[in-house]
Amino acid sequence: MSIHHDTDQTQDPMAAQARRIVQALDPAARVRLLSGAGMWSTEEAPGAPAVVLANGPNGVGKQVADADHVGIGETVPATCFPAGAALGSTWDEELLEEVGAAMGREARAEGVGVLLGPGLNIKRHPGGGRTFEYLSEDPFLAGKAAAALVRGVQSEGVGASVKHFAGNSQETSRMRLDSVIDERTLREVYLAGFEIAVREGRPWTVMTSYNLLNGEHTGESRHLLAEILRGEWSFDGLVMSDWMAVFDRVAGVRAGLDLEMPGGRGAWDARVLRAVDLGELSQDDVDRSAARVVALSLRAEQARAEAGPAAVDRDAHHALTRRAAAAGTVLLTNDGLLPLSALGRVAVIGAAAEHPRFQGVGSSRVNPWRTETLLAALRDRLPELAYTPGYDPVTGTSSGEQRQAAVAEASSADAVVLVLGVPAGLEAEGVDRTDLAFPSDLNDLVGAVVAANPRTAVVLVNGAPFELPWADEPAALIEAYLGGQAAGAAIADVLLGDSEPGGRLAESLPVRAADLAASAGFPTTAPTQALYRETSNVGYRFHDTWDVAPRFPFGHGLTYTSFSYGTPHVTGEGTDLVVTVPVTNTGARAGSEVVQLYVHDTESTVHRPAQELKGFARVRLAPGQSCDAELRLDRRSFAVYDVATGSWLVETGGFELRVGASSRDIRASITVHVESDDVITPVPAPSGPVATGEEMAALLQRPVPALRPLLPYTTDSTIEDLAQTWLGRRLRSLLLVAVRRQVPTGGDQATKAMIEAVLAQMPLRGLVAAADGRLGLDTLDRIVAVLNATSPTARRAGARLRNTSAQRSA
Ligand code: BGC
Repeated sequence: MSIHHDTDQTQDPMAAQARRIVQALDPAARVRLLSGAGMWSTEEAPGAPAVVLANGPNGVGKQVADADHVGIGETVPATCFPAGAALGSTWDEELLEEVGAAMGREARAEGVGVLLGPGLNIKRHPGGGRTFEYLSEDPFLAGKAAAALVRGVQSEGVGASVKHFAGNSQETSRMRLDSVIDERTLREVYLAGFEIAVREGRPWTVMTSYNLLNGEHTGESRHLLAEILRGEWSFDGLVMSDWMAVFDRVAGVRAGLDLEMPGGRGAWDARVLRAVDLGELSQDDVDRSAARVVALSLRAEQARAEAGPAAVDRDAHHALTRRAAAAGTVLLTNDGLLPLSALGRVAVIGAAAEHPRFQGVGSSRVNPWRTETLLAALRDRLPELAYTPGYDPVTGTSSGEQRQAAVAEASSADAVVLVLGVPAGLEAEGVDRTDLAFPSDLNDLVGAVVAANPRTAVVLVNGAPFELPWADEPAALIEAYLGGQAAGAAIADVLLGDSEPGGRLAESLPVRAADLAASAGFPTTAPTQALYRETSNVGYRFHDTWDVAPRFPFGHGLTYTSFSYGTPHVTGEGTDLVVTVPVTNTGARAGSEVVQLYVHDTESTVHRPAQELKGFARVRLAPGQSCDAELRLDRRSFAVYDVATGSWLVETGGFELRVGASSRDIRASITVHVESDDVITPVPAPSGPVATGEEMAALLQRPVPALRPLLPYTTDSTIEDLAQTWLGRRLRSLLLVAVRRQVPTGGDQATKAMIEAVLAQMPLRGLVAAADGRLGLDTLDRIVAVLNATSPTARRAGARLRNTSAQRSA
């Protein structure tokens, strides 16, 4: 495997200039570049101004002050675009480029050089706290969507940062959790989306994740950063850490983690310099990363100059976010009630119509310069409208009185729009859900309202899947997700048929959480390890391979018209194929269809998911109109990752190319025969959807790693972990008081709960960055040593650990 570092070898004049700038600096100044200046900026160098960074994935979250990194402090007003879950559901790369460009324009106008997003971690389990922020359960769709967003942002002279690289699938213990994933699953599921985003989007930066991956902090993994990202995928940009993710900066520089964020006032500088002096770290590694930081600045300067002054047309962006929200809205069921006729009396029930939820809680939060409510949007257009809240928007609870009022309004209306916003706290960064239960009062409200008036359209306002036992009861069901600042208007557009519901599920909606293979290990109960025993059995790969019906399948979404598919035909050579399928709009309204292509390997040496998405195309057709949808396949569409040879291989044989409107609505298929010289190395297949310990060890090609004990303490121990010992508990109380004092006050209940979770899960090393120069690494090491020395249990645990490692090295 050749490992190359592009910035170093490239002939690119900008990279050469960056190297010259670095060469002119003294060693300490070079090292200083390797960590940020404060919370939101890089350090400057002569001729290379600082680069301002800001969240995020669905709009510019530029903080007014260096307040915090989790979305509490005030940010500049910006357009709040739909959350990742809604953006992913658009299956529309062109639209996502437009959205990206609008975010890029706003970022440029604010002097932001790099926007921290998109986030494209695989939705391993619907309960993940950031499911609302991520794009899909499928790497192909997530990768394509992320690449489009990146292209859009960067077309405006602002860099993007694809995050969180990689294997960051849960919030619980996220800052020191080891994601144990076998290499094939890693490549085929968890890295494939990043690969597409990097190759096709060419982001300026990549952000590493908080978690460890197979025993290494991702920001210290040469395998991930040097071999895969730069070596195999030819990434030529800068790698930065997630905020306070750095464990060992020296190891990070060695692996190619160029920039530590936030700065931490150069807390690591002395250790990095010493490591160079001692020969533990090469000066070349330092210079290379420093040059990448400088190159980012030069790139940002040049791109900004080329793009010119940013004229932000806020109204146009508002209109765009409204269009994007409708495009991500999924019509799950409809017996013909929708689109609603404006005639007659419509009862709007649901506090979310008046107090809209349109974004998730956490670092992705945007300060919208304008919002529109569904209630106002419907009032403008419906002559006879009655409204009652039905429940409390903060708690999701409904009193007897509220329910009675809802039933009364429903009974006397011609049709009902029941809007159910789940409490914000159920979907927050830093906090996972341990079950997928929909708030029980809202379940009851659905029952009561539908019984009072069957002509009810239920609109779900949430960022991630919930169990919906009543899904078939209402006349229509819409998943509106968290649609950004114009979500209210967009939902009205869809309800009334002014916009089509453009969305298709980018994630499966399960019947029950308990059905899911990933539930076997989610969220992990072991605080230091997440074992991905379900391997690739995530989302539809699980449902379709093990024949477990979801409530609504991946790719599903109805329209207000209907489409028929003709017979597909295939042209091309080998694996470079084009599948052409005629599609006709057979309904009475214009609309668009997302034609999806799933590949099923009819016979394989190694176990494979029953089918995998390898292409999709959106076609827009007037009533009666037909066109050919074209779906392109290449070698990777057929390949599996062969761990033994470290390569993607295609096996000779038949492949069924399934064309359809969802993973479970296949309309036509065609089998092709592929010839190949590749020989795939056989690997034992787990006997069920969840690998046993032994099967997992076979996949990992090593024993399943033992759980890292909570004692002895290390700098990776969290504030919560300190509860293990007497002195630890004392320190924990003091720290919580001190750290809380630093956090800006204010924020809603959900944000407050998120902050508590984030603080408790903060590793001790994070305190150094948070203390902004008042706590050094040496002092922290001494504190950890004292904590361990004063506890007999910690001392014994330390001795055990030393014995085991001595035995291992003997
Ligand atoms: C999040 C990142 C975010 C960063 C800066 C972290 O806690 O994981 O997604 O970009 O903070 O706010």
